[in-house]
Amino acid sequence: MIPTPNLSHLTAKDFERVYEPAEDTFLLLDALENDAEDLKSSRPLICLEIGSGSGCVSAFIGTILGPSSALYLCTDINTHACQCTVATGRQNKVCLESVGTYLDRSLHTRLKHRVDLLIFNPPYVPTDSVEAESAQSSPAIASAWAGGINGMELTNTFLKLAPELLAPQGRFYLVAVKENNIPRILAAMLNEHDLAGKVVLQRRAGREHLHILRFEKQGSQVQT
Ligand SMILES: C[S@@+](CC[C@H](N)C(=O)[O-])C[C@H]1O[C@@H](n2cnc3c(N)ncnc32)[C@H](O)[C@@H]1O
Repeated sequence: MIPTPNLSHLTAKDFERVYEPAEDTFLLLDALENDAEDLKSSRPLICLEIGSGSGCVSAFIGTILGPSSALYLCTDINTHACQCTVATGRQNKVCLESVGTYLDRSLHTRLKHRVDLLIFNPPYVPTDSVEAESAQSSPAIASAWAGGINGMELTNTFLKLAPELLAPQGRFYLVAVKENNIPRILAAMLNEHDLAGKVVLQRRAGREHLHILRFEKQGSQVQT
């Protein structure tokens, strides 16, 4: 079993401003752990996590792949989350390079077709658009969960960017809930972007039915 990253350096005060790892985070870690051997053998060189929050997920990936085996890039719109991400990398002996930006802005052009492992646990909770827009415009804890209509407003924006980021053999893990309409996400990614996706893990947690989706380019080897 791969140990969950040590977050003992983060305090309750940090988690008033930054998303504290929860069931969605842990389901994502479980999916990555299930794929650990496959991920290692594919030797990713560039990993990019959008919305890294505490840095827990990228530190976990660093533990799977090895602290200096890849470039671990993380973004978050919340600058305090960026600081927590860097601190979590340090605490777990993985160098996490954090960029405070909207999604992959400022990195997109340089990273086109170069990302081997792409991860996004987005704000997926359905809210009205005004709430999601206000969370995005003054990033604090609400930006971690307020997802707008169907919980998909930010995710839809990123789903248009993700295919262009992925290297030919790259993979993309996305967290979603039932309300996000998972069949529609899978169909759109296949039909509009030629990315084949599947649900690799799902779990009920309170009122949420969490899913981990994994996408790969059509024609690349799809693990069953
Ligand atoms: C559900 S939390 C996930 C945090 C962490 N990855 C985890 O799994 O525990 C969503 C994260 O996305 C960040 N976020 C929200 N909007 C963003 C945006 N437009 N660009 C980058 N990050 C964003 C939030 O600040 C938050 O850290």
